[in-house]
Amino acid sequence: MSTIAPASAPAHGAETVAVAAERRWSVVVGVIIALLVLMMVVTGLHWASMPPSRVETIDVKTVHLRGEFVESNLGSALEADGRVVVRLIAQQYSFVPACIVVPAGMPVTFRGTATDAIHGFIVGRTNANTMLVPGFVATFTTTFRATGEQLMPCHEYCGTGHEAMWARVQIVPAQEFLTRARDGERVDCVSR
Ligand code: CUA
Repeated sequence: MSTIAPASAPAHGAETVAVAAERRWSVVVGVIIALLVLMMVVTGLHWASMPPSRVETIDVKTVHLRGEFVESNLGSALEADGRVVVRLIAQQYSFVPACIVVPAGMPVTFRGTATDAIHGFIVGRTNANTMLVPGFVATFTTTFRATGEQLMPCHEYCGTGHEAMWARVQIVPAQEFLTRARDGERVDCVSR
């Protein structure tokens, strides 16, 4: 029967090295955790002391029935003041309208809300990106440079149908859009 050699000097040295490495690693992890906690505290205090300046709320119970987000008012519109405004609703598991038309090369303002859960969207690889929270109106203005079609997926997990929730955005030449949006028409590209 062979016996295992008792802990000799080299083995003991390896253990010392291992313990030192563990200790170093625990210090690194400790520092990372402390930094993350500090970030949470700082951002929490920052947001608590400087809340968003423009919060627009909306009654979820009447969103479909009256006001800006009734179905006949959804889609893209050329406002009386010349602005292009896209109004949309997110719900489990679709966007209304499911196909949005916007002009290229001019500012487009999105106004959207959600009726049930938190949703969100991003338009292709553009910077058009927002969350849609029930009870709140999300709005932002962006300009699409290139014409073409982009996918607009929901990017906030909203339930079992989340991955199938997406819309399309057609970016058309400004002149084409302005022709279609004339007379206050609500424009979309949903096939009916
Ligand atoms: Cu809607 Cu994810």
